Amino acid sequence: MNLLEELHRRHAAAEQGGGEERRAKQHREGKLSARERVELLLDEGTFVELDKLVQHRNRDFGMDEQVIPGDGFVTGYGDIHGRLQFVFAQDFTVFGGSLSEANAQKICKVMDLALKNGAPIIGLNDSGGARIQEGVVSLGGYADIFLRNTLASGVVPQISAIMGPCAGGAVYSPAITDFVFMVENTSYMFVTGPDVIRTVTHETVSKEELGGSMTHNSVSGVGHFIAPNDGDCIRMIRELMTFLPQNNREDPPLKETSDPADRADRELDTVVPSESNLPYDIKDVIVRVIDDGYFFEVHEHFARNIVIGFARMEGRPIGIVANQPAYLAGCLDINSSIKGARFVRFCDAFNIPILTFEDVPGFLPGTAQEFGGIIRHGAKLLYAYAEATVPKITVITRKAYGGAYCVMGSKHIRTDVNLAWPTAEIAVMGPEGAAKIVYRRELTGAADELVAEKTEEFRRRFANPFIAAERGFVDDVIEPHETRARVISSLRMLQNKVDTNPRKKHGNIPL
Ligand code: HXC
Repeated sequence: MNLLEELHRRHAAAEQGGGEERRAKQHREGKLSARERVELLLDEGTFVELDKLVQHRNRDFGMDEQVIPGDGFVTGYGDIHGRLQFVFAQDFTVFGGSLSEANAQKICKVMDLALKNGAPIIGLNDSGGARIQEGVVSLGGYADIFLRNTLASGVVPQISAIMGPCAGGAVYSPAITDFVFMVENTSYMFVTGPDVIRTVTHETVSKEELGGSMTHNSVSGVGHFIAPNDGDCIRMIRELMTFLPQNNREDPPLKETSDPADRADRELDTVVPSESNLPYDIKDVIVRVIDDGYFFEVHEHFARNIVIGFARMEGRPIGIVANQPAYLAGCLDINSSIKGARFVRFCDAFNIPILTFEDVPGFLPGTAQEFGGIIRHGAKLLYAYAEATVPKITVITRKAYGGAYCVMGSKHIRTDVNLAWPTAEIAVMGPEGAAKIVYRRELTGAADELVAEKTEEFRRRFANPFIAAERGFVDDVIEPHETRARVISSLRMLQNKVDTNPRKKHGNIPL
């Protein structure tokens, strides 16, 4: 045997994957191949493939006739913007991208390398799940991956892109990772598919409706990003990585900006409507404060009453959490609490300072919320903020009512710098509700004028930031146009912040 020829033959076979016809089908469906995806993801010419010659070991069900070098998964390492990343991509053309024992070992190898070398792991998923012909060996392979996902959580960033099917228990690997990208029309995730659902619950639901990209981006919250096609999905992943450190021991990377640190945007002075119950878009505030108005929003379509995402201040990445008065009046509910909490914890794990914009009338009332466990879920956000030791800055733009005042990065839960705009209202509840409770007896059946007078009394007393400022619960009341300069100066002051939590194995966040 000519060994060099044999090597070339094996490499070529690995690159062929499941063959011309299956690759053409993949392209017809608007999907790139696993190799094309990896090439697009990494800086040109940096990809180094590992285990291209690995083969499956299955001899049953005629599998010994179908041995493809690489076994369909493409794994290895390369750079994004010059920084090391570990990657795996499932090739749907080889046994439907299904996970064999060999493939699981390939993935585990890059995950172990990522952990040892402190670099992110990016998985491009396109798979029919466990390789049916391998039975428990394949299931065990999944569990090996889940274990590594869990151990890597909070140590290196983990990104999943769903670029085809992802079903059964296979969804739990992406679910443990930090960010899940999905592609419109071609990706879907579910634990049990439409057929099983029809048999068990007699519900009829399409694949798209059940687990398509918009379902997970807007209803379940499993997906954080949605892209129109594979190319855009990969470009979005590359962009996300510009905000993230390589691991939990590093600071996030700087990006030069020419946006002046002392830029004062006078439009901010009129963003908040004079009527306290009128909506405005908090994103109008965010983009006027951050570098170059560039906001990389996360979870854009889910729980829109809270806005989260990455931005930069003076070139340094920050995480933004903001109540959104334009949606559900910015109330906190189950979904927004979960959304905010997970993001705060990600930022805290990866040394990304948190900037909070607060305008929250409280937790959303109603039986649906109470029965759904708003107490437990709201506590997640509280816990996440309280536990976070990264630099934390809160700007109260308008309402900071009730428990939500405490939760949204209040001074009392170790926020370093708390600023309020003159429009801030910090109270146990809104003036209307307060007057009705405190003057219940006097106001029962009273004339409208008296109700208005008593309400006004509460408004005068609490619809301002001064009582909190007198106590030092807010460090200063600033004019809105000063926000950028003051946040930047705070971030500079906090650059070397060190804070710790008591020694423990881990806390018990209310899950
Ligand atoms: C082996 C598989 C496979 C699998 C697909 N293929 N899934 N081979 N194991 N799990 C093969 C098919 O035989 C076919 O081979 C090729 O991949 C393409 O599959 P098609 O069915 O032709 O493609 P399509 O019509 O696009 O449908 C895709 C699909 C469907 C929806 C993913 O293949 C499917 O339902 N597969 C089974 C999904 C599943 O139930 N998996 C187990 C989930 S449970 P040829 O040779 O014809 O090209 C699970 C447990 C994980 O994964 C547990 C972790 C704890």
